[in-house]
Amino acid sequence: MPELIDPTTRLRTSFLAAVTEFRADRDYPVPWFVTNVDSQALTDATAFTAYVARVLSERDEAAVRADGFVAMTTLWWAEDGQMLGRLAIRHRLTPALERVGGHIGYDVRPSARRQGHATAMLAAALPIAGSLGIAQALLMCDEANTASQRVIEANGGRFIDMVGHKRRYWVPTS
Ligand SMILES: CC(C)(COP(=O)(O)OP(=O)(O)OC[C@H]1O[C@@H](n2cnc3c(N)ncnc32)[C@H](O)[C@@H]1OP(=O)(O)O)[C@@H](O)C(=O)NCCC(=O)NCCS
Repeated sequence: MPELIDPTTRLRTSFLAAVTEFRADRDYPVPWFVTNVDSQALTDATAFTAYVARVLSERDEAAVRADGFVAMTTLWWAEDGQMLGRLAIRHRLTPALERVGGHIGYDVRPSARRQGHATAMLAAALPIAGSLGIAQALLMCDEANTASQRVIEANGGRFIDMVGHKRRYWVPTS
């Protein structure tokens, strides 16, 4: 049974294989978190350890940066030592996140798609968002992203409106 875990150096090999898959994916754009991996971390174990430490440190409100980056809890969806997906909970909204991004973003590696992982991963994340004080999470997906739309609606998402090409939803966390 997969579960949400903290990012860990233990899954380095699987994480790197997932990054390779995301980069080769022709169905969706390369996710932000992939472009955000320090390039050295892809080849060097010490740099990977530093990358994992950086991602974990982003949970601290002190990590909030002037460029609008708010505290964020990144979790990996993993089973049997394999990293299947990644999810991030932004602890609060900014005017920019209200328009693009919302509270929660997620990605499932291409080889693990269409097996219910995104639906289960979001379900597992909602109580965690609740424990961070988020009573209802703002989620959004591109209007063309049918899969993500289904993931959100299967988790109780209530459609709010369209902002540009994005569908916005409130998703209760409890
Ligand atoms: C969108 C994404 C997260 C879905 O992950 P997943 O693990 O394949 O999703 P699930 O298996 O839980 O499927 C959810 C639903 O979408 C459907 N679905 C999955 N992929 C689909 C596709 N390519 N086209 C149409 N429907 C699709 C599933 O059949 C399922 O429908 P159901 O609930 O009616 O049975 C994954 O494709 C992905 O990581 N894409 C790139 C990043 C991204 O778009 N992230 C979301 C940003 S808002």
